[in-house]
Amino acid sequence: MEKLNVAIIGASGGIGSAFVRHFAGNTSANVLAFSRSGTDFDLPNVQSHTMDFHDESSIERAAKVASESGSLDLVIVATGILHDDSLMPEKSIRNLSAESFEKAFRTNTIGPALVAKHFLPLLKKDERAVFAALSARVGSISDNRLGGWHAYRASKAALNMVLKTISIEMAMRQKKTIVVGLHPGTVDSQLSKPFQANVPDSQLFTPEYSAEKLVAVIDRLTPADSGKVFAWDGLEIES
Ligand SMILES: NC(=O)c1ccc[n+]([C@@H]2O[C@H](COP(=O)([O-])OP(=O)(O)OC[C@H]3O[C@@H](n4cnc5c(N)ncnc54)[C@H](OP(=O)(O)O)[C@@H]3O)[C@@H](O)[C@H]2O)c1
Repeated sequence: MEKLNVAIIGASGGIGSAFVRHFAGNTSANVLAFSRSGTDFDLPNVQSHTMDFHDESSIERAAKVASESGSLDLVIVATGILHDDSLMPEKSIRNLSAESFEKAFRTNTIGPALVAKHFLPLLKKDERAVFAALSARVGSISDNRLGGWHAYRASKAALNMVLKTISIEMAMRQKKTIVVGLHPGTVDSQLSKPFQANVPDSQLFTPEYSAEKLVAVIDRLTPADSGKVFAWDGLEIES
C-alpha cells in the first residue's frame, strides 16, 4: 500500500503537534513536521525540520526537503498568532497599531500564502489532495457580532480570501486539489490561554480532540468544498 504523505506546518503548536501525533499513530503514514522552533518528535515516521514565516527562503528550503519524500496527500498549516510579549488583541480602535497588524498578517495571512506558493506544487496531481490552513470563526465578517480583536480578525478574514482565490486557480489546474480553511473550536493551547476564563469546560477542547475532529472533516472533503471554511463539526462558516 502506498504511504500517506503528510506535511504539518506549525508542528510545535498545540494543535499542530496533535496533528503530528495523530498521523504518526498511523504506521503507513510519512509525516513531515515543520516548525519555527524545530521541535523534534523522536517518532520513527516523523521527520522534523524548521521553517520561519519571516524568511521565505526557509519555506522554499522546507518545500525542497518535503519534495524528497515524494508527492504529498495533505498539507496542514497549523501556525498562528493572537498574542505575544508585545501583541495583545485590541479591545478598541484606540489600541490599534501598525505593528500589531503587521505581526498578525505576517503569521496568519502572508505565511500560509507563501506555504501555499511553495507546497501546492508538491501535492499529488492525479489523486485527491488537500491543502488546509487553520483559520478562525472570528475571521468571518458576517459572524462578527462582538467586535474587537481587529488585527487578528482582519488577518484571518484575509487568509480566507487568500484560500478562496487559490482554490479558483487550483480548480483550473489541479482539479482534484481541495483548498480549505478550518476552525478548530476553542482549544486549550498557548494561543488561547489568556482568554479561557469565560469558556465553559465543555467548550474548551483538548488539541487531540480538535485535531481528530478536523481530520474527520478533511476526510469528508470533496473538490466542491474547495475555497470554503469549515468548523471542527463539519459545518461551513460563511465569509
Ligand atoms: N487555540 C484556539 O482556541 C484557536 C481558536 C481558533 C483558531 N485557532 C487557530 O489555530 C491555529 C493553531 O493555534 P494553536 O492554538 O495551536 O496555537 P499555538 O499553540 O500558539 O501554536 C502556534 C504555532 O504557530 C507557530 N508560529 C507562530 N509564528 C510563527 C512564524 N513567524 N513562523 C512560523 N511559525 C510560527 C508557532 O511556532 P513556534 O512555537 O515554533 O514558535 C506554533 O507552532 C492558529 O492559526 C490559530 O489562529 C486556534
